[in-house]
This record gives sequence, structure tokens and C-alpha cells, in this order.
Amino acid sequence: MSDLEFVADLGVQWLRRPVPTTPGLAALLAQDALNAEEQAAVVQAVGASVADACATHGYHSMDLVVLHPATPGLEAALQRFDQPHTHADDEVRYILEGEGIFGFLDAQGEERVVCVRAGDYLRVPAGVEHRFTLTAVRRIKALRLFADTAGWAAHYTQRPVGPLAMKA
Ligand code: LAC
Ligand code: NI
Repeated sequence: MSDLEFVADLGVQWLRRPVPTTPGLAALLAQDALNAEEQAAVVQAVGASVADACATHGYHSMDLVVLHPATPGLEAALQRFDQPHTHADDEVRYILEGEGIFGFLDAQGEERVVCVRAGDYLRVPAGVEHRFTLTAVRRIKALRLFADTAGWAAHYTQRPVGPLAMKA
């Protein structure tokens, strides 16, 4: 089974949504850090392009996650993300810049590891076991969509796993 089939069988939606060419957006995405106003400008520029997903799945809010080598607490954050976990809500990530690595696990604990880049849109349904890390680029900007921010937390499955990385 291909990685694509494995991931699709878990119910994960993995689509290409080309990043909008809104004036000014590329320059913002090229920055390392973004202040609150700049983050809001990115959300504003991209939000309309995911209105269909919001309507279909009831996502009421969105924000931008920005990670780069100087992000305070980056290593600690990655140590939380790279352990297998589930959420009670869908995890929706629309990658706008940079790279990330997702591991998706089935009920038997088989894991497939995939790389995501600008233009990749993922909807990980509630309850699907996964983990995440950055690539050596150590940089990502992704739009997150939420049905219920209050209920969004990681439930660790405690499944024993090795380091998360792309196979050489
Ligand atoms: C999260 C991703 C990284 O839970 O799985 O934010
Ligand atoms: Ni998660």
C-alpha cells in the first residue's frame, strides 16, 4: 500500500491547495518571525481560500503557527509534537511556507511518515494517531483551523516509537 493510500485509509484528507498569490503575502511568508499584525494579515490573505472547509466541517476559528530556529521554546515544543497523540477535534493544517514531517499510525501501530510543504492541506480527523516534527530546515508557517479551540489538546497514546524522520 502506498503512503497516500495508507493515509487516506485512516481518513486523513491530504490535498494540494496552492497558496494564494495575494499581493504582499509572499514577502510576509519569507520573514522568520511575524508580529501579531503580520500574522493577522496572513490569516486574512489565506482565510477565504479555506471557506469551503470551514463550512463543511464547522471550523469557527483559525490562526497561524510560525516556527523558526529562533522561536522561543522550539525544542520543547517539538518534543511534545513528536510523540504519538490524538485530539478530540480535527487537526487541520494548511502549510504556507517551510516544511514539516507527519507520522500517521494505524490501530496496529504501523506508521507512515510523510513530508509536507507549502500548498499541502491536511485534515487529520479527531482520534487519528499522529505525530509531527520539523525537517532540517526547521521552519514552517501553517494556518490552523479549529472547530473548538477550547477542546483542543493532545492525548498521548504512549505508543513506543523511534525518532521521527524521513527515511533516507
Ligand atoms: C499538533 C500537531 C503538530 O498537534 O500534531 O499541533
Ligand atoms: Ni496533533
